[in-house]
Order: sequence, then C-alpha cells, then structure tokens
Amino acid sequence: MIIKWRELIEKAWNDREVLHKSTEFDCWRIFHGYTEGAKGVVIEKFGTMALVEYKDDISDDLDTIKDLLLECFPFTLILAKGNQSTGLKLKDRLFALHGSFSNAPDFAEEYGIKYTLLPDAMHNCGLYLDARPVRKWLVNNSEGRRILNLFSFTGSLGIAAIKGGAKSAVHLDKSKVLLPRIKMSYKANGLDLGTRSFIQGDIYKHLPKAIKNGQRFDGIILDPPPKVYKSPYSDHQPKGQDFSRLVSMCSQLLNPGGWLICLFHSFSVTWDVSDKEIIESSSKTLKVIDRFTSECDFPDDDVEKKLRVTVFEKM
Ligand SMILES: C[S@@+](CC[C@H](N)C(=O)[O-])C[C@H]1O[C@@H](n2cnc3c(N)ncnc32)[C@H](O)[C@@H]1O
Repeated sequence: MIIKWRELIEKAWNDREVLHKSTEFDCWRIFHGYTEGAKGVVIEKFGTMALVEYKDDISDDLDTIKDLLLECFPFTLILAKGNQSTGLKLKDRLFALHGSFSNAPDFAEEYGIKYTLLPDAMHNCGLYLDARPVRKWLVNNSEGRRILNLFSFTGSLGIAAIKGGAKSAVHLDKSKVLLPRIKMSYKANGLDLGTRSFIQGDIYKHLPKAIKNGQRFDGIILDPPPKVYKSPYSDHQPKGQDFSRLVSMCSQLLNPGGWLICLFHSFSVTWDVSDKEIIESSSKTLKVIDRFTSECDFPDDDVEKKLRVTVFEKM
C-alpha cells in the first residue's frame, strides 16, 4: 500500500499546533498512525530528538519520513526503531536516520520536571507520553502525601508526585535495571532518592508484606502492564491488568481520604466495567473522584481506545 506521508505528517503536525506552541513541555506524540493513516507507525518527539517506531516494514519510506520531519522541526537526531515483532535484535532494528546517537538528549522536560531518557532501551525510552495528564494530575494533587508508585518503571509518575509536594514516594518494580535511571531523574530535579525509596521486587510478594506490617499511604499509583504475568509469589492466574487482585490489596494500604489512581491500558474491558470492578474489589471502600484520558496527540473518537484514567478516594 502506498502511504501519502507528506499529507499525513503535515496534517498531524498542524493538528498539534497547541502542543508545539506550549512552553510547558518539549515532548509529545507527533504522529499516531493507528488513527492518522498508517497503522502500526508512531512518531514521538523528545526535545530535539524524534523517534519513529513501526510494526510493519516501512524501510523504503524512512528517508521520506525523515525529510518531512526535518521540514517541521530542526531535529538534531531522528531514530528509527523497528518493533520486536520484526524478529530482529535491538541493535539491528534501532538506527539513526539523521544525526548521531551522541546528539541524544538525556532528558525530556514537562511542567518544569526533567525525566531521564534512554533512547536505546529495549522497550519504551523512559517516558510514556500518553500519561502526560496523569503526571500533571499528580503534580497538582500530591501535596503532603505519602505515595506508593506501583509498577514504577523509571519512576516518572512518583517523581511528578514528589515535585507536586508529596512527603515521600516509594517506587516498586521487579526490573533490576531501573535503579540508575530513577536516580538520574532524581538528581536532575535536585532530589535525593535515598536508600529506601526504590524496592526492586515482585508486587505479589511486597504488597502482602506491607499490609502485614501495617503500612499506610495517602496516594497509590497503580499502572500495571496490559498483561500481568503469573507470579511465583501468588497461586492465582492474573487476567489482563489484574485489577481485582491488586485493588483488594491496595485498598488495605490506603488511609481514609487517600487516593488510588488507576491507568487502564486493556482494550478488552470498558472503562465503566473497570471502574465497577475496582469498587467491588475494594469492598466498596473506594469512590470515583476524577476521570480523564490521554490528550490530543493520541487522537481517537472511541474513548475506549485511549488511555483511560480513574482516580478513586478511600472513604
Ligand atoms: C507499563 S510499565 C509501567 C509504566 C510506569 N508507570 C510509567 O508511567 O512510566 C510496567 C512495569 O511493570 C513492571 N512489572 C511487571 N510485572 C511486575 C510485577 N509482578 N511486580 C513488579 N513490577 C512488575 C515492569 O518491570 C514494568 O517496568
């Protein structure tokens, strides 16, 4: 199929005028191919770097895409990254179309906060752009709170909470490679991670332990991947994001008046059904206080195809 890249990229760039005029952030999704004319292709901007990611083989079009991007913005680095499904190793599916890796920015900036980037990381380079409104919400609603950031990845959501005045944030993730990246983001924002703010381990091991120890938080961030894998620390088989099991534990760790913010990535369950499942799993101790979705750089008329976010409050 012939894709009219000029038409598509120019339109996408113009549709996002409000974003590139903003001085509040330097990163957004430039092109969301799923609804903008090239399924499986997404282009994201992080400062002066653009990252073109694709699932189908568009090798013959990459030069055209690079030239069009340079017409829109003076990028110093444009990277192409083929999807894992191409079967290639990372080193063979990630390469520069323009500039060199030495021009890669170390950070993206959003609402005055710096987030460490690692463009040659296996999966996401460090900051999920659809979660920008979540980070904004956290900056505005974390003052004085003790926060638990579950499935923390690079810690970005917890860092937004800290910059919003949270008293403390504990990040939990099972990946062994994240600690130096979280530390770098803390340092770039003039913060000290200390020795007890990152727990590397399995959530199904640590949440029951925290409940047993009587720990309590005033805000919990719950952002499981679309498919949570079976844990050696639990005998149940998780389904999708496993909210029912996770919320039954989180609701016991929340102080009254504390919030739980949930990010829904799974397209097989509707937003309303997910909210209901969470309230039931908390034995009706939670109520909905806010709901929002990803912004205009993730355009979709069907809200169920966007990132959906619900904030609950413990009664
Ligand atoms: C979707 S990412 C989370 C994104 C993150 N909240 C952010 O905004 O950057 C999912 C993360 O969950 C972690 N993870 C998956 N299963 C886990 C488990 N059983 N226990 C702890 N962490 C887990 C992965 O290592 C990965 O970093």
